[in-house]
Amino acid sequence: MNAVDLATYARDGYLVLEGFLPPTDCDTLQARAAELVAAFDPGPVRTVFSARDQGHARDRYFQESGGAIRFFFEEQATDRPVPLALSKIGHALHDLDPVFDCISRQPRLAELAHALGMAQPLLLQSMYLFKQPRIGAEVGWHQDATYLHTRPSTVIGFWIALDDADRDNGCLMVLPGAHHGPLRERFVRAGDQMVTRVLDATPWPDIAPVALEARRGTLVVLHGLLPHASAPNHSSRARHAYALHLIDGQADYPADNWLQRPDLPLRGFA
Ligand code: FE2
Repeated sequence: MNAVDLATYARDGYLVLEGFLPPTDCDTLQARAAELVAAFDPGPVRTVFSARDQGHARDRYFQESGGAIRFFFEEQATDRPVPLALSKIGHALHDLDPVFDCISRQPRLAELAHALGMAQPLLLQSMYLFKQPRIGAEVGWHQDATYLHTRPSTVIGFWIALDDADRDNGCLMVLPGAHHGPLRERFVRAGDQMVTRVLDATPWPDIAPVALEARRGTLVVLHGLLPHASAPNHSSRARHAYALHLIDGQADYPADNWLQRPDLPLRGFA
């Protein structure tokens, strides 16, 4: 991180830091995720997580996952073995699993958060994303602040490629500079339901999407208001990634945010 990177981030709403995570750390996260999956007994609950279809929203398994380690399946995965059927693991890996904790709280990530202007960074959410070969589903255009809102908006995403990500296996896509626009929607708790509330109907700006092809170990910083998406994985290759979302503890965290952790206080990098 230097002054040039900060200017780029301010202008574009994202930064691509190639080779940020060493291959050994990528190996460690992938091996640990495989262990967690091997130990996971899906039982009768093969909860689907789909960013398009929010039919999962009433599912308590999802609602309580902000303070837990939970496993979510791809929609098209009914006949696949579990390791090839999962969509993601979330959302407190960084607090509840020692391996993810250690890598998530490494000093270089703390320095990055501070360099990006976070006064009191808190590690709010972590996700291990599988984007499985052939069935890894599209994630539609969205802003992360829709799901993780603070007042003012402070959420920043650290997205780390654990496999090479390209157009064929569903790399990230962004609308450069579109983080200067308003937050369009919030995904909130309303009683025991999750609902999406429209705040601002402004369409996404007419900016050509940029595909962020990323080698393994690349860290992409995503501003919380930057519209981003990823295409389906049409390839025979997996596209694993680890995503960590931070907020600034100096901002207000609304009680109607979907992600609540009544039994697990938020922590920073210490
Ligand atoms: Fe996102």
